[in-house]
Amino acid sequence: MNELFEAVLRDQDTPLSREEMVAGLHDCDVFVPTVTDEIDADLIAAAGDRVKLIANFGVGVDHIDLAAAHARGIPVTNTPGVLTDDTADMTMALLLATVRRMRVGEASLRDGSWSGWAPTSLRGTRIGGKSLGIVGMGRIGRAVALRARTFGMKVHYHNRHRLPDTVEGQLGATWWDDLDAMLPEVDIVSIHCPLTPETDGLFDATRLARLREHVYLINTARGEIVDEAALAAALESGKLAGAGLDVFADEPNVPDALKALDSVTLLPHMGSATFEGRQQMGEKVITNIRAWSDGHRPPDQVLEGWA
Ligand code: DGY
Repeated sequence: MNELFEAVLRDQDTPLSREEMVAGLHDCDVFVPTVTDEIDADLIAAAGDRVKLIANFGVGVDHIDLAAAHARGIPVTNTPGVLTDDTADMTMALLLATVRRMRVGEASLRDGSWSGWAPTSLRGTRIGGKSLGIVGMGRIGRAVALRARTFGMKVHYHNRHRLPDTVEGQLGATWWDDLDAMLPEVDIVSIHCPLTPETDGLFDATRLARLREHVYLINTARGEIVDEAALAAALESGKLAGAGLDVFADEPNVPDALKALDSVTLLPHMGSATFEGRQQMGEKVITNIRAWSDGHRPPDQVLEGWA
C-alpha cells in the first residue's frame, strides 16, 4: 500500500471507531474497512465528497450499506475467491469436530477426566453416507460440496439458481428449489449464503422445527442467519444433536446458552484465518484500488443485488 499509494495505515488490529471511520471516509479517496467496521447510511451521508471507493478487506459486505454507497456513486469492492478453500476447510473441520465430539474429548483429556479407551465412550456420528444440506451454493458452498463428497456424504443444496448439469454431476449434488422441502431430508445443514434482508433470521424456530430429530447445524457464514435463541432452545430440547458455529450475531459476544452446551463447537470467526488467505485478501484490495485509480472498473466491484 505504501509503495503504491499515499496510504494512511492503522497499526492496530481492532475494529475502527466511528470517529475513525468518519475521518477515513472524509479525508481519503479510498477507504478500506473490514467485516467489523459497520458502514451505515448515516456514515456514508456524512462522508463528504472526497471518498470515491470503498475497498473492503473481506468477501462479505453486509456491514456496508450498499444502497447508500451506490446512491452516492461510491463503488464497493470485496475479496472473493481467495478465502474459499480456507473457509471450506474450516467448515469441514467444524463439522467433524462437532459430529465426532472432539471438543468434549479434548476437554476430558486436558481436565484429567479421561480414564482411557472405553467401548461406549465419546461416540459420535459417522459422516460417510449421511446427507449434507448446503444452503447457498456459491464458491464456498461448492467447495464444501466437493469436500463432503470426498468424505462420502450425499450432497443436497438449496440455491436460488440451479448449478449447471455438469457441475451438479461433478459434485453429485441434488438441487432443492424450496429450502423447506430440503430440510427434512438431511442429516447435517451447512450455511453458506450471504447475509441479506432475505436471509436475516432464515433459521428461526419455525425453520429449525422443519429439521428431522438429531440433525447438526454448521454455520461459517454470518451469525444473523440463525436465530441463536431458537437454536439454543432446539439444542437444549435435544431436537438438534449439535451445532458448529464460527460466526455470531453480535460478535464478539456469544450467547451464554450456547457456551453452556457440550453439543456445540464454537470458533471465533476464523474461517478465513490463514496466513496465505489474509495476504491474498490484501493483494485483492490493492488490485481493486489500483484498477480503479487507473480509471478501470475494479475487478471485484460488488453490484446491486450482489447476493
Ligand atoms: C469475510 O471475508 O466476509 C469473512 O467473514 C472474514 O474474512
